[in-house]
Amino acid sequence: MIQLSGVSKRFPTGLLAVSGVDMTVEASEIVAVIGPSGCGKSTVLRLIAGLDSPTSGMVRVAGHRVEGPSRSVGVVFQEPRLMPWLTVERNVSFGLHGEETAGPVAEALARVGLADFADALPKELSGGMAQRTAIARALVTKPPVLLLDEPFSSLDAFTRIDLQEHLLEVWGWYRPTMFLVTHDIDEALVLADRVIVFSGQPGSIEAEITVDLPRPRDRTDLAFHAFQDRAMKELGRSSRDRQARAQTPGSPSRAPSS
Ligand SMILES: Nc1ncnc2c1ncn2[C@@H]1O[C@H](COP(=O)(O)OP(=O)(O)OP(=O)(O)O)[C@@H](O)[C@H]1O
Ligand SMILES: [Mg+2]
Repeated sequence: MIQLSGVSKRFPTGLLAVSGVDMTVEASEIVAVIGPSGCGKSTVLRLIAGLDSPTSGMVRVAGHRVEGPSRSVGVVFQEPRLMPWLTVERNVSFGLHGEETAGPVAEALARVGLADFADALPKELSGGMAQRTAIARALVTKPPVLLLDEPFSSLDAFTRIDLQEHLLEVWGWYRPTMFLVTHDIDEALVLADRVIVFSGQPGSIEAEITVDLPRPRDRTDLAFHAFQDRAMKELGRSSRDRQARAQTPGSPSRAPSS
C-alpha cells in the first residue's frame, strides 16, 4: 500500500534529511517509526502524504506515484489543527465537497466516541477529544492510508493510553494501512505490527522489529518487556551511529558548498 524505493530528500538549505530509504507497508498493516529527534521521520511522513517531494527515488501509495496530497491518504499531526469557529461536525466535514456528508461524518464521530459532541466547538473539548476529532476528520472519507505524526505526544499519559486503544478500535472499523511516527517506544509496541527504527543524519532505516504479540497487548507482560529491551537497544545503536557520523569529518549530511 505504501512503497518507498531509494528515497532521498535534500532540503534547499543543503541538508540531506533522508537517504536511500526502501520501505514497504502492506495493506492494513500498522507500522510505527521511532528514532532520535531530527532523524527524518516527519520528512518521510510528509513525502508519503505528498506534502513534499523526494529529491530522488519514488514514493507510491496504492500503486500510484505520489505527486501531491491525495484522498487516499489521511493525516493526523501532533496538534489537532481544528478550526476554532467551526463545530466538531463541521471540522470533520470540512474537506468534503458536494457530497453527502451527514452519514459519513456521523459514522466517523461515532467511531472515535464523539457522537454526542457533534455540535461542540473546539474550545469545549479536552485535548484528547480534540485529537479524536482530528482522527475522525482524517478518516471520514475512509482513505486506505492513515499517517500519524506523533498524534498523542502532547497528551497526558492516561489520555495517551486511552487514545491508543481508540486508535486500534478505529483501525478495526475498515482496517486502513497505518504509518505512525512516535517518540514513545511503548506506543509503537502496543500498536504496531512492525516497528522501524530510524537513525540520522541523514535519516535511514537502522532496524526493523516485527512485533508478533497478540492484541490487545499487555504492557506488563514478560514478552512485551523483551520487545521493549530490543527496541531500546536498537534506538541506542541508532543514536550512537548518529553521534559517530556527526563527528566524522566530511559527514554526508550536508552538501559540499559550491
Ligand atoms: N523544510 C525544511 N527545510 C530545511 N530543513 C528541514 C526542513 N524540514 C526538516 N528539516 C530538517 O531535516 C531534518 C529531519 O527533520 P524531521 O522533521 O523529519 O525530523 P524528525 O525525525 O521528525 O524529528 P522530531 O522527532 O524532532 O520530530 C532535521 O535536521 C530538520 O532540521
Ligand atoms: Mg517529527
